[in-house]
Amino acid sequence: ALEKIDYVAEINRLKKEKNAVILAHYYQTADIQDVADYIGDSLGLSQQAAKTKADMIVFAGVRFMAETAKILSPDKKVVLPDINAGCSLEESAPADVFSAFKAKHPDAVVISYVNCSAELKTLTDIVCTSTNAVKIVESVPKDKQIIFAPDKNLGDYLNRKTGRDMILWDGACMVHEAFSADMITELKAKHPDAEIIAHPESEKPVLDVASYIGSTTGLLKYTMSSPSKEFIVATESGILHQMKKASPDKKFHVAPTVKNGYACQACQDCPHMKLNTMEKLYYCLKNEKPEITLPEDVIRDAKAPIDRMLEISA
Ligand code: 13P
Ligand code: SF4
Repeated sequence: ALEKIDYVAEINRLKKEKNAVILAHYYQTADIQDVADYIGDSLGLSQQAAKTKADMIVFAGVRFMAETAKILSPDKKVVLPDINAGCSLEESAPADVFSAFKAKHPDAVVISYVNCSAELKTLTDIVCTSTNAVKIVESVPKDKQIIFAPDKNLGDYLNRKTGRDMILWDGACMVHEAFSADMITELKAKHPDAEIIAHPESEKPVLDVASYIGSTTGLLKYTMSSPSKEFIVATESGILHQMKKASPDKKFHVAPTVKNGYACQACQDCPHMKLNTMEKLYYCLKNEKPEITLPEDVIRDAKAPIDRMLEISA
């Protein structure tokens, strides 16, 4: 007979037995967030990965995040529940194409959003996340040209915010690109007391209607500190779990999305983030695979721009 596995109990048992730590991004499903040892944004997760004493890091997130953990803790085993969990931003910037582009701007400083491949990081001067992006951009002398890759929406937002004129790579997040400013405005008309808040990966028309713009941690903290009782949230739906937990008396709506001109019900869910399930998390912890491995030279060259980021944002 098929025996039913109690994933929560088994995951907790295996975690102790193997001295493993589960790091989960806010975009994971609620059940995964609830068994994680640490839940956070890209910056928080990389800081945790750099300092953990665990023997194995189980990364409940996407591949670029697990790669960053591996780069920061190369002696630890890093596993990812589904090795196909990619990212549309990562896909938009193949290292060879970017390298040719970079060669045309030999004097430019390259800042890359952490949402990119390890190979792209080897071509980068400073990595950033949405939490520290303004600070990182401002750390570069004003007379220096900057190439910002791969998120054009975040880059455009940073150009407006810092008054810079960075050269932007043409990449976007498939989730944040789907948010519709018109539909958000319609929803706001139905809920006039709701405050609109957005992640800077969103397009300008969405950011223009938002009263607060920030990273996932920024958005979560904002919902806790704002006197508003209702929010329309323009970022991936997974974040609502912690928002509701932190403020059970407040109401949250995920911002509406469109695809090919039609309202889309599933576009607020990142198909990459949502490849991870409790079942895959359990087998990944049990079998210690799929494992993230990277060539030594990639680890070395990708670590320098991440270390620079961690120093600047410390
Ligand atoms: P942060 O959690 O760092 O804001 O990043 C958002 C994101 O899109 C991660 O894939
Ligand atoms: Fe990439 Fe967007 Fe998914 Fe984050 S939400 S992993 S940026 S596609």
